[in-house]
Amino acid sequence: MTAIRPIPSDRLPALLAAMPKAELHIHIEGSLEPELIFALAQRNGVAIPYASVEELRKAYAFTNLQSFLDIYYAGASVLLKEQDFYDMTWAYLEKAAADNVVRSEIFFDPQTHTARGVAMQTVIDGLHRACTDAKAKLGVDAELILCFLRHLSEEDAFDTLEQALPFKDKFIGVGLDSSEVGHPPEKFARVFAKCRALGLHLVAHAGEEGPPAYVWSALDVLKVERIDHGVQSPKDPELVKRLAKDRIPLTVCPLSNLKLCVFPQLADHNLKALLDAGLVATVNSDDPAYFGGYMNENFLQTFAATGMTAQHAYQLARNSFEGSFAREADKRRYIEKLDAAFAAA
Ligand code: ADE
Ligand code: ZN
Repeated sequence: MTAIRPIPSDRLPALLAAMPKAELHIHIEGSLEPELIFALAQRNGVAIPYASVEELRKAYAFTNLQSFLDIYYAGASVLLKEQDFYDMTWAYLEKAAADNVVRSEIFFDPQTHTARGVAMQTVIDGLHRACTDAKAKLGVDAELILCFLRHLSEEDAFDTLEQALPFKDKFIGVGLDSSEVGHPPEKFARVFAKCRALGLHLVAHAGEEGPPAYVWSALDVLKVERIDHGVQSPKDPELVKRLAKDRIPLTVCPLSNLKLCVFPQLADHNLKALLDAGLVATVNSDDPAYFGGYMNENFLQTFAATGMTAQHAYQLARNSFEGSFAREADKRRYIEKLDAAFAAA
């Protein structure tokens, strides 16, 4: 482990903001701000059941994952054209660049759109064009990960994969999201086996609200390379040992966990404990338009609440690069930039 010299706590926020970092867990539909929802609704003539941006924002009072997902899927209904998908992604990437995110691996939920009659190509082309522009214009290296909605059937996931395969050069992997409890990873064993054979990267949400058993089956049945969330893992000490032994990255989302009542307060969050147990934990924004903060806000609020140090900050950023699906040469380059930021702090 690289030892980081202590940094006075009043200088830590500036370092958290300035350090280069990767975001590995962002649902692009969860970056749709209320203002853009209203603008797209008007542009596309889509009716939404809220009178104003303020009224919509007021509805963002969640009690658990499902209470959020209901509003999140409704918000995505304004996305119809390729330019809509581009505009949403570009708005996120501008915010990511401002937060010194140099690498972003972006989830998208095609079934939310294809179920409304939007073509797979429309979705992927819009998202991918924004990623290509971000590399040239913002210096953010962005790639896409297609997520299957776990509340839908295995057959629906297979159909979705088939529709996406003509565009396989535009996404690097697949994930599993939506309502966790009652939809264990093994429901998608065969789809993930096929994706693995196709050479796609594999990740899955597990242990957000669901039990450690779902993390085990994401690892052993789906054979995922990263666990999204995973914060329920400490309930099973054997699982913690396994995650540490195999250096499985956990893409933790502190403000999401707070807003969805996974932890009553940020001060109760287990991120520091996960890091101190030697796990490859990272910080991510999940659905920043709904949970009150993009990357740097997640870092700043979580550090303020938990008393983590510069050593933790370095480890989180380093884990984000090591846990990413970037090419090895790019990972080394990012870590050199990170080391330079800490040397200059
Ligand atoms: N889709 C968008 N955000 C999600 C989350 N936090 N958990 C599961 N599915 C999601
Ligand atoms: Zn998520």
